[in-house]
Amino acid sequence: MSNHDIGVIGMGVMGKNLACNIVNHGYTVSVFNRSFNKTMKILFNEPIERLHPYLILKEFIHSLRKPRCIVMMIQSGAPVDELIHNLLSHVCVDDLIIDGGNSFYIDTIKRFNFLQKKSIHFLGVGISGGAEGALNGPSIMPGGTIAAYKLVAPIFKNISAKYNQEECVEHLGPDGSGHYVKMVHNGIEYSDMQLISETYSLLKNLIGMNNIDASNIFKHWNQGELCSYLIEITGNILCKKDIDGNFIIDVILDSASNKGTGTWTSKSGLDLHVPCSVITESVFARYLSSFKANRMIASTILSGPKISINNNFNREKFVEDIRQALYLGKIISYAQGFYLMKRASEYYSWNLSFSIIAKIFRAGCIIRANLLNDIAIAYSENKNLIDLLFAPIFRDIINKYHQSLRNVVSTAVSNGISVPVFSAALSYYDGYRTVNSSANLIQAQRDYFGSHTYHRVDKSGIFHTDWLDK
Ligand code: 6PG
Repeated sequence: MSNHDIGVIGMGVMGKNLACNIVNHGYTVSVFNRSFNKTMKILFNEPIERLHPYLILKEFIHSLRKPRCIVMMIQSGAPVDELIHNLLSHVCVDDLIIDGGNSFYIDTIKRFNFLQKKSIHFLGVGISGGAEGALNGPSIMPGGTIAAYKLVAPIFKNISAKYNQEECVEHLGPDGSGHYVKMVHNGIEYSDMQLISETYSLLKNLIGMNNIDASNIFKHWNQGELCSYLIEITGNILCKKDIDGNFIIDVILDSASNKGTGTWTSKSGLDLHVPCSVITESVFARYLSSFKANRMIASTILSGPKISINNNFNREKFVEDIRQALYLGKIISYAQGFYLMKRASEYYSWNLSFSIIAKIFRAGCIIRANLLNDIAIAYSENKNLIDLLFAPIFRDIINKYHQSLRNVVSTAVSNGISVPVFSAALSYYDGYRTVNSSANLIQAQRDYFGSHTYHRVDKSGIFHTDWLDK
């Protein structure tokens, strides 16, 4: 029967949960997986009403009503091209292929152009929220044509997360824009996580808090302006024990992995000349953490202040300083991420709406936070806002909190505690508000050794100096 509403390929945890989410909203879903065992398991071990597994790709495709909607939930990179290639033998004009994985946006642009020539619709869709979000309501970031989006919009709207009844999905822009926005979402996710982990380090190593106290701090902070998914899960993580009664956090190896989306965000910042230092430092912090063997050697031969619990300061005030620094660091990180999207939108002519992006980030996704509602308001009030840091709602907080960020960074530095992302946030902040920077000297040096010329502040035109008076 060719009447199922939608097909999902890839029965990993994200694909399966997304398919179940669609089924739970009353749709009929065909599913397919490259290796048979996952499909067989659904077929025989755990049959789900309205979920129809297929072992043969052709039969899977022919089970769908036309125009067909096929969602790929598979590993990004070459497997996506391979699958598109295989699908082409079976799909027809006006069918829709959706890539719901974390694909690189440039690949998405190429695939979009390739499929457009064949009159096959293609959407590159960022889906955030992890396994739980995929099942109960993710934040969805579609990029492609509006016509393609319309084919799947009713399903996406039904299955997406809701923020005060508002669906966390909207058409964002053409070709690779959805995956680009998801990529920046992940970059911000990296910096949020790193800021929280630096906070944990300060609470533990400088203030001497135990896991339960630190957990309670995060749970308390989650009641206020820092309220967010990542703060919430940190509160839960820190107090979790294993069956032997050990805190799990204390036995996890301190070497952070990554799948590359943070790196892509930083590279895009470099390409588009946008300083995403907070995001980039959080990527570097993961890389540095993975140098465990080197760090063990360095710790025995490279000196610095001995990290010890500092009893010389007002503990309550310092905890509040850390809270404010964390919030300000977060604001600066989001400002960098949104500025990057603004530059990308101009460069690729995507015409992104930042209030829409902030709105669909408010629920379902990993970076969901109360802060995003303020960001949505800031962009709704002024859609030509140059920078989030200039929005009145943030300007006032920043002017109130920057001293705390200074206290946190300087205390950490003088106690030998590494806080790369707090430091990057503060340096960016101070660099950004500096009218007369030291870049005049860079220009002079460039002109000195390479005749690269410079502009003057007192005269218009391009200048070169014979620095050696030859
Ligand atoms: C999400 C997450 C998701 C995934 C990250 C993990 O929005 O649901 O971002 O996409 O958890 O890609 O990335 P790393 O392995 O690079 O930390």
